[in-house]
Amino acid sequence: MHSLFSTEEIAARLSGSLIGRKIHFLEEVDSTNTFAMQLARNGAEEGEAVIAESQSGGRGRLRGRKWQSPPHVNLYPSIIPRPAIAAADAASMTLMAGVAVADVLSEYCPGTVHLKWPNDVLVGMKKICGILTEMKAKEAAVEYVVIGIGLNINIKRDDFLEEFRGQSTSLLEETRRETSRNEAAAELFDSLGEWQQLFLNHGFDRVRSKWLDYAGILGRRVEVKSRNIAEKGTVLGIDEEGALLLEGDTSQILRILSGDIYLNERD
Ligand code: BTN
Repeated sequence: MHSLFSTEEIAARLSGSLIGRKIHFLEEVDSTNTFAMQLARNGAEEGEAVIAESQSGGRGRLRGRKWQSPPHVNLYPSIIPRPAIAAADAASMTLMAGVAVADVLSEYCPGTVHLKWPNDVLVGMKKICGILTEMKAKEAAVEYVVIGIGLNINIKRDDFLEEFRGQSTSLLEETRRETSRNEAAAELFDSLGEWQQLFLNHGFDRVRSKWLDYAGILGRRVEVKSRNIAEKGTVLGIDEEGALLLEGDTSQILRILSGDIYLNERD
């Protein structure tokens, strides 16, 4: 028997910020991100959140990629921050969210949580969470952001669609026990609130160094491949715009905005 969502229980478990204080709960929606963008357009306040039991058109980061969103097992929240930051720095909100998720998952799976650039959350080598950030800017400033988080909680390995099965995992698969989705949602909202405050009050540096800790790639040789390029280099870090900084073979600095990253063990 699966546990039911309860916005009252989530609210009672929250300890900190505004995030998740108001939750719009939907049994089914096409995409919580689309719904949250609409709410934000209509004036939703800082920290309002949307949670759906299931999504008929859950969206992935890559164009056309679906996020498998069956009912009763996982978490599909989208939150609406309104940070006073430049539009060019909006990607740092995605990195911040990755760190917030990784902190929560580390409580359940200590020592095995990793962030994979640009922003997949893995346990071991398998993906447990994806993050899709969208935003609206007015002139050069962010008006609102929607951070959508797909977190695999109690889904069984055999219930993943075949295309995801080999490379996806869930908390159930990793811990061998069911996790309360209300508890996980409250922990996630609190963690997002803490990291957002840290970022907005003290700048990107703490987020950056925690992100790099979870990524474990600083100083490593990597290859980044996208549709038409492949670049090799040593990881120097990430910048506020979410770009990966590499030192190339002739000591030139490469700034890479998208692609898939591979650790180059032989180099
Ligand atoms: C990825 O491709 O890794 C990002 C997946 C993001 C999925 C979440 S589920 C909640 C929110 N609503 C969506 O339609 N997508 C995000």
